[in-house]
Amino acid sequence: MKKITVIGTGYVGLVTGACLAEMGNHVTCLDIDHEKISSLCCGNLPFYEPGLNELVARCVDAGRLHFTAEYSEAIPGCDVCFLALPTPSKEDESCDLSYVLKAAEQLALSMDNYLVVVNKSTVPVGTAEKVREKINDTLTKRNVEIPFDIVSNPEFLCEGTAVTDCIKPDRILLGVDSNKARTIMRELYTPFSVDRAKIFEMDIPSAELAKYASNAMLATRISFMNHLAILSEKTGANIREVRRALGADKRIGSRYLNPGLGFGGSCLPKDVKALRSMAHEYHVSSSLLDSILEINQHQRAAFFEKIASYFSSLKEKTIALWGLSFKPNTDDLRDAPALYLIEKLLDQGASLRLYDPASMPKAKMLLKDLEGLHFCSDEYEAAEGADAIVLVTEWKQFKSVDFEKIQALLKNPVLFDGRNQYEQEEMEKLGFTYFCIGVSSSADLIYS
Ligand SMILES: NC(=O)c1ccc[n+]([C@@H]2O[C@H](COP(=O)([O-])OP(=O)(O)OC[C@H]3O[C@@H](n4cnc5c(N)ncnc54)[C@H](O)[C@@H]3O)[C@@H](O)[C@H]2O)c1
Repeated sequence: MKKITVIGTGYVGLVTGACLAEMGNHVTCLDIDHEKISSLCCGNLPFYEPGLNELVARCVDAGRLHFTAEYSEAIPGCDVCFLALPTPSKEDESCDLSYVLKAAEQLALSMDNYLVVVNKSTVPVGTAEKVREKINDTLTKRNVEIPFDIVSNPEFLCEGTAVTDCIKPDRILLGVDSNKARTIMRELYTPFSVDRAKIFEMDIPSAELAKYASNAMLATRISFMNHLAILSEKTGANIREVRRALGADKRIGSRYLNPGLGFGGSCLPKDVKALRSMAHEYHVSSSLLDSILEINQHQRAAFFEKIASYFSSLKEKTIALWGLSFKPNTDDLRDAPALYLIEKLLDQGASLRLYDPASMPKAKMLLKDLEGLHFCSDEYEAAEGADAIVLVTEWKQFKSVDFEKIQALLKNPVLFDGRNQYEQEEMEKLGFTYFCIGVSSSADLIYS
């Protein structure tokens, strides 16, 4: 049993803290957001994540998970301190390390014994050394000598499946350069990989770069498919068939090959940009990363154009948006394609009826100053009187809607499927004018 502090109680920090507590450790989750800590102390989670509520409640009840906003309470006496802090893009698209370095300074002001400082945030190569320097400088100012080690342990959890990803990870990367820290980290992670087969030990720079490599690879696959989808529409090929053929190739596999509205969320866009910025810093070509990002932007714009060109004008049109979060099973709206579509559709004079199974409270807060929005309580209410439905996020519940009922609610039975969730033939049989991605439908031919 270790005494652990996790600094930053967001998506990564809270899930990590709860999973480490589940494995028997004594965990304190620390955050400077007092409101967040107060509501966690009352049992309210700051975001939606399947399975997390129960896990947190269980660990709190067992007395192994605590929350605080005070470094002086969380740091003294702890064995391992995780950094799970934001690393957003700076204006020049490089990674903003100010949150990580500030937390490093704050922890160094309170540490009183040997500490393993573990970086879970996604950070550029060289960050571990900056954190080491910051802690050393702060300890020098305090005029104390306290030993510590730095470990790079990037996080690979996905929002929506974060708890399972954390408890049953594909791999656990440990970038480590000290035997003492290596032993502590192995011990800590053994319950997550009993035979240690999933624990990959490596040097620190490799661990730091591997996280960017993973996210950039996923983004590459998505942009590649979106690029092929555009080509499919132009040539008369069907991207669904192309995808089936491609995914059956064992060398390629079928995951992350869905064409759609492009990648969003808090990680992929900023991480590809940070990797590109790193390439620039080291004078390495970034043309592949440039294309990934360009295709991603273009994909959103092309989909909006599809909607706009169907209607001669969007003025006085009512559009229902199904799904707002950047992907299903999360309420995270950061860089969600829905936000782009909302802005463009409102700009062209449309009124919008919005529904998302999890992110309505966040959406109401975020979009409260915009006019022309109606927040709905389900997908049926959203469809009422609408000129078209746009499927933005592929929540499972949208797969099994009663389309006959939906059709009766709509002003016009038109569906723009931004995630290729429905079968074209079925939708057309039901009487819908149906548009999806990468398939030149009969509707495309009529309205182009
Ligand atoms: N969200 C994901 O799915 C995911 C997955 C893998 C990796 N990551 C990476 O993990 C890191 C954290 O991401 P996140 O989504 O959990 O962020 P988040 O924004 O959800 O949470 C970060 C938390 O840190 C707190 N914080 C900021 N400064 C602090 C300080 N000085 N002391 C204490 N707390 C402070 C904030 O109040 C916030 O609650 C990022 O680098 C991200 O790229 C995220």
